[in-house]
Amino acid sequence: MLTQSISIFTSVARRLITLNFKFNTQEGKDHLMAPLLEVKNLKTQFKSKDGIVKAVDDVSFVINKGETLGVVGESGSGKSVTALSVLRLVQSPGKVIGGEILFEGRDLLKLPDKEMRKIRGKDIAMIFQDPMTSLNPVLTIGRQLAEPLMTHLGLSEEQARKESIDLLKMVGIPNAPERIRSYPHHFSGGMRQRVMIAMGLACRPKLIIADEPTTALDVTIQAQILELLQQLQKETGTAVMLITHALGVVAGMADRIQVMYAGHIVETATSEELFANPRMPYTMGLLKSIPRLDETRKDVLHPIQGSPPDLLNLPPGCPFVSRCEYAVPASETVVPQLRPVPIRVRRGAYTTSGTATDSGTEQVLEEEVMPENDYDKHLIACHAEVRMGDPATRTVDEVVAS
Ligand SMILES: Nc1ncnc2c1ncn2[C@@H]1O[C@H](COP(=O)(O)OP(=O)(O)OP(=O)(O)O)[C@@H](O)[C@H]1O
Ligand code: SF4
Ligand SMILES: [Mg+2]
Repeated sequence: MLTQSISIFTSVARRLITLNFKFNTQEGKDHLMAPLLEVKNLKTQFKSKDGIVKAVDDVSFVINKGETLGVVGESGSGKSVTALSVLRLVQSPGKVIGGEILFEGRDLLKLPDKEMRKIRGKDIAMIFQDPMTSLNPVLTIGRQLAEPLMTHLGLSEEQARKESIDLLKMVGIPNAPERIRSYPHHFSGGMRQRVMIAMGLACRPKLIIADEPTTALDVTIQAQILELLQQLQKETGTAVMLITHALGVVAGMADRIQVMYAGHIVETATSEELFANPRMPYTMGLLKSIPRLDETRKDVLHPIQGSPPDLLNLPPGCPFVSRCEYAVPASETVVPQLRPVPIRVRRGAYTTSGTATDSGTEQVLEEEVMPENDYDKHLIACHAEVRMGDPATRTVDEVVAS
């Protein structure tokens, strides 16, 4: 599945590098979609005896209605703490110390606990990595499925029982009328994860946060569960925040991908854009560290060298500086805001159908292409304003020439 997805993205990448592809950015299209969740400048910290751990540091993002947002990053980058912050489930000594979490316009951080409990059970559901930690081992699956249906949707016991059977059928559990009487330990790992998805979907939430929903499962079951999630999402129109440390998992599913590093979001783009034209060196590193079928090299993958910074002592500038092959002195002091990568404009002779020609007699058009190498792309995205002024007003040729 991973290799298939990569091939698809490679072909998309080729298509993107065409006439009229203006910017390597999604930002310009976002206003066309309706935001469901808007997280603004979220900061979540843990107090420890050694100091303050800045687990999530000034994070802002949007999830639109019905959209799948993939969140990727190495272990410890703040993916789960971001999700738990949204649901107000961060446990002491952790605390959300700043920001806004707007769900359909209401700031979840300001809601009374009772209101928040309603939202958690009904509007936003969470699927965890290990279902055994979320399923109650001493209650039957039927009871656990029925309870939120009665509490949040006001169903009677009998209605909830029927709905629970339908939910188990929907997630592909055979013999559902019998299985609702089973306990969690009677199910295999993959089946338990299906039950979790059924529970997540029970109240028809507007958003499902799935934190590593398939990490503990073997590859075949992983693919089945992700396909199921995708299919149910299409049918129900639920938005999904899919958290994983594996870029390949979100490749085939996410509309947009958000990359986290050391408590920051370092890059966000549509899946196609991210695979075709990553701008942040960390993302480039993640892409180089996964296997691809469409490349000739058979054996060499490039893991990202070094390790993430200590969240107790983050560097003042870019958190990736100690591992980045493109770092410049400014990286030590400036946290870059990734910019759209401006196009390179080439003038040349083209036939009327748009094919380049050497004759020079046909009409003259402008061909627009992305910078060809990682260094150019990154230079413009990350450091253009530090080294060369505002990139948005200049072409790559102009910037590189200066
Ligand atoms: N209870 C805690 N006490 C102190 N620090 C914590 C606690 N929980 C999380 N952290 C800090 O928050 C950071 C982010 O953790 P988080 O669980 O969000 O990482 P993650 O990106 O989900 O990683 P993984 O892929 O391993 O699940 C960690 O690096 C850790 O330093
Ligand atoms: S070039 Fe500088 S700012 Fe950009 S990722 Fe590398 S260290 Fe960070
Ligand atoms: Mg996690």
